[in-house]
Amino acid sequence: MSASVARVRESAIVEGEYPFSRRNFEQIATFLRANTGIALNEAKAALVYSRLAKRLRLLGLRNFDEYCRYIETADGAQEQHEMINALTTNVTRFYREPHHFDHLRQDMAPRLVQLAKQGKRVRLWSAACSSGEEPYSMALTMLDVCPDVERYDVKILATDIDAKIVARARLGVYREEAVAPIPAATRERWMARERDGAAKQWRVKDAVRSLVTFNELNLIGSWPMRGQFDVIFCRNVVIYFENDTQELIWRRFKEVMKADARLYIGHSERIDVPGFESAGLTIYKLGDV
Ligand SMILES: C[S@@+](CC[C@H](N)C(=O)[O-])C[C@H]1O[C@@H](n2cnc3c(N)ncnc32)[C@H](O)[C@@H]1O
Repeated sequence: MSASVARVRESAIVEGEYPFSRRNFEQIATFLRANTGIALNEAKAALVYSRLAKRLRLLGLRNFDEYCRYIETADGAQEQHEMINALTTNVTRFYREPHHFDHLRQDMAPRLVQLAKQGKRVRLWSAACSSGEEPYSMALTMLDVCPDVERYDVKILATDIDAKIVARARLGVYREEAVAPIPAATRERWMARERDGAAKQWRVKDAVRSLVTFNELNLIGSWPMRGQFDVIFCRNVVIYFENDTQELIWRRFKEVMKADARLYIGHSERIDVPGFESAGLTIYKLGDV
């Protein structure tokens, strides 16, 4: 490496309380890409700095050189998870992209409920579930169509790479503002109102929670589940991945979709691999290869 390249790598990429060089940023970005698929470019350096500066403060470290060394040590293994959690974006909401839930309610659920009533196994997957609003919206949609759906073999798998957010999702407790998109009648029926000090909150009732199984799962790691899915929601996550990784994920979904399954993706995502056909706005089905 030439002296001038070395100088650039050692130069500050963000000016702040903790020295943060281009080399530190590259090390963090390389780690994140290898372990989550998330690709960061230099435009995200300030965001990385602000999210990780809190970790440095908490750990009592003086600079990002120390932090980058720490995550490589045996003691720092847990910090790798904390770093991933800090750098993932968990923004979500109930019934986000409502046309997907309209489609699920009108075009998928009636057929799936019929299959379930014939004794068939019905499986839905929220493949980056964040704090749970997405899988619970899927559950509420199924319950709209069949209020006693829990009597049948209908299950929703909800997974995310971030263990802490999965734990929050499993808890199923939401602030008043978060439940605003849920129609009042649905909310009254399937959620219980609580107080947390001065704040009002809502707890998803057991009849809804029992439909959903939450697990930690890295989309670029191995997928341990057996069996295929009727519905997959994978929304607003591959947008953070490079094209090759996105393509790999789409190809893997193909393997776990039943012949009549539908895959719902985020509004700014698209699928460009053979074997998928459009089934609506950001909704895909299997087609001819
Ligand atoms: C912006 S949220 C999207 C949540 C929800 N699907 C929605 O559209 O509202 C993105 C989620 O993807 C998760 N995520 C990021 N990389 C992941 C990976 N490699 N495997 C599984 N989940 C991942 C994040 O932890 C985060 O909760």
